[in-house]
Amino acid sequence: MSKIVQQDILQQLQQLQRVAQTALAQANTTEATREWYSEYLSRKGRLTSILRNLGSLSAEERPLVGKVANEVKAVLENALQERQTSIAQAELEAVRRAESVDVTLPGRPQNLGKLHITTRVLRDIYAIFTAMGFQIYDSPEVETDEYNFQLLNIPPGHPARDMWDTFYTTTPGLILRTHTSPGQIHAMREYAPEPIRVILPGKCYRYEAVDASHESMFYQVEGLAIGKHITFSDLKGVLINFANQMYGEGRKARFRKSYFPFTEPSVEMDIECVLCGGKGCPVCKYSGWLEMLGAGMVHPRVLQNGGYDPTEFSGFAFGMGPDRIALQKYGIDDIRYFFTNDARLFERV
Ligand code: PHE
Repeated sequence: MSKIVQQDILQQLQQLQRVAQTALAQANTTEATREWYSEYLSRKGRLTSILRNLGSLSAEERPLVGKVANEVKAVLENALQERQTSIAQAELEAVRRAESVDVTLPGRPQNLGKLHITTRVLRDIYAIFTAMGFQIYDSPEVETDEYNFQLLNIPPGHPARDMWDTFYTTTPGLILRTHTSPGQIHAMREYAPEPIRVILPGKCYRYEAVDASHESMFYQVEGLAIGKHITFSDLKGVLINFANQMYGEGRKARFRKSYFPFTEPSVEMDIECVLCGGKGCPVCKYSGWLEMLGAGMVHPRVLQNGGYDPTEFSGFAFGMGPDRIALQKYGIDDIRYFFTNDARLFERV
């Protein structure tokens, strides 16, 4: 009877091992392996319940059954460990795959910025004048009354000051420049008695009633050439060459007599309207012409203030507004758009 019981238990153990191994192979998650453990190997598991019958065996029979039971237990424990390791690896791999970047996906389009229209015009101006031998000269935005007016032949009380009213600082005589012309004096005082060919770009400030074509801050580019035999023909040659390159060859330009205290004679240069080609439209106020710049031969007194002897030296100067040029060139009807930060402005260029 006892022999039969021993055989029976041994069989049960072997069967348990087979069943448990098959079940383990089907456990695909860490959670499932835990359930498997409690089913087969835990204190309330099937192995323990088989071993409960050990009591019915004789003292001689017990060791064999105990040995086999320990072997089965060891085999199953090893199998469990292997299974858990491989499941953990598979789970990690799955997470890695789920979180990985698909490098073949097309990128999100970047909204590339563009240069401000005024900056583009400034760069065009630099390119044209540097090709003609002009250097770019930097001069300050905060100026003295002396440089902005007096040395340019605009003494206190001169009526021309009305045209160039500005912002004043709390330091008497220290103001924001109303034009780039004071840079002429800086350049002359630095280079005299050498010849000069410079352009002076930068921001200027005016006390303006702001409207579609006037801002209280705007750009100017000044030009200055000083030498021994410089004539009005040089002024015309340089500026017509500039207009041809800026607006396209063959566009008509004209000079009108004008007045600036720091040039004599003084002119203004107009260009055939870029929008209507001279027929007349709202941009040119139906005149067919657009005002392009002010210019003239440097006044002898200004030459002197800069350190040049006017009986020996002569020169020409001009001043233009790149914001204006940008408005005309791109057909924009309001200078205030330049400062509103609305990027749609740049879609048309
Ligand atoms: N500074 C003048 C202005 O702001 C322009 C100018 C410059 C005219 C140089 C003549 C010569 O209106």
